[in-house]
Amino acid sequence: TLKIFATKKEITDYFNRKPVKVIGFVPTMGALHKGHLGLIELAKQQSTQVVCSIFVNPTQFNDPKDLEKYPRPIADDIRRLEEINCDILFNPQVTEMYDDNEKWHFDMGDLENLLEGKFRPGHYQGVTQVVYKLFNIVKPDVAFFGQKDYQQVLVISKMIEKLHLPVKLVMCPIEREPDGLAMSSRNIHLTPDDRKNSLVLSKTLNWVKENFEPTKIAELQQHAIQTISATPGVELEYFEIADGKTLHPATELSESVVALVAARVGKTRLIDNVLL
Ligand code: PAJ
Repeated sequence: TLKIFATKKEITDYFNRKPVKVIGFVPTMGALHKGHLGLIELAKQQSTQVVCSIFVNPTQFNDPKDLEKYPRPIADDIRRLEEINCDILFNPQVTEMYDDNEKWHFDMGDLENLLEGKFRPGHYQGVTQVVYKLFNIVKPDVAFFGQKDYQQVLVISKMIEKLHLPVKLVMCPIEREPDGLAMSSRNIHLTPDDRKNSLVLSKTLNWVKENFEPTKIAELQQHAIQTISATPGVELEYFEIADGKTLHPATELSESVVALVAARVGKTRLIDNVLL
């Protein structure tokens, strides 16, 4: 049965009473979908006990309206976690995680100013702040993050490395709807028209993957930008073919390459990416 904890003390006491060989951790903001559940399934295979956290972290929302309308179906989430035999849910209140006027700054270099960093000022400061706290509370051996938020994976890896955190990070593949749309808690905000228009993102990423050649990067990027910009109801923020490690524009010499996109579809901001 799922154990539900709301405080640091409950988790710490639990693991002190019952030491566990490998603690696997899946941090989330809830409104759980198959993407999240995939992370938990993978975590179960690689850990003795799996902790999932659900915490809608206010410090990572650059847009107050986005925070306000973020879905919070906690009863459904608990049911899902019980169904897939997750061991522990950590579901703290904001006051358990933060004091007033707390300061935090993590120097993540360029990652803060590129792509998501550029369009969501302060977002990754909030993400590193909460993930650092969650790591200190849960003390995981392995933490599971989705490729869906590729830049987030790079940011957390950098934090683990620079702050010497004793956590191994595992990146899990993107779960998609049958028609290609990457699963996201925000997809419920899409109107039927938005939902149709949103497909241009995954379709274009796929097209770039199928046609990828290191010598054609500029061409492919141009074409992708044109295709997405021409779609009604879709407002492109960026489409970048980037070096998989630095997120600087990819070159013919890049060892790994990733195409990343962010766009507003109707009122909903969506991101997606594909490894090339
Ligand atoms: P959230 O958006 O709830 O996502 C939680 C985890 O699920 C992240 O690692 C994310 O990359 C992964 N995920 C989301 N959609 C996915 C999909 N379609 N396929 C695979 N994985 C997917 O990311 C956050 O929350 C927060 O920033 C958090 C790390 C919890 C810090 O607050």
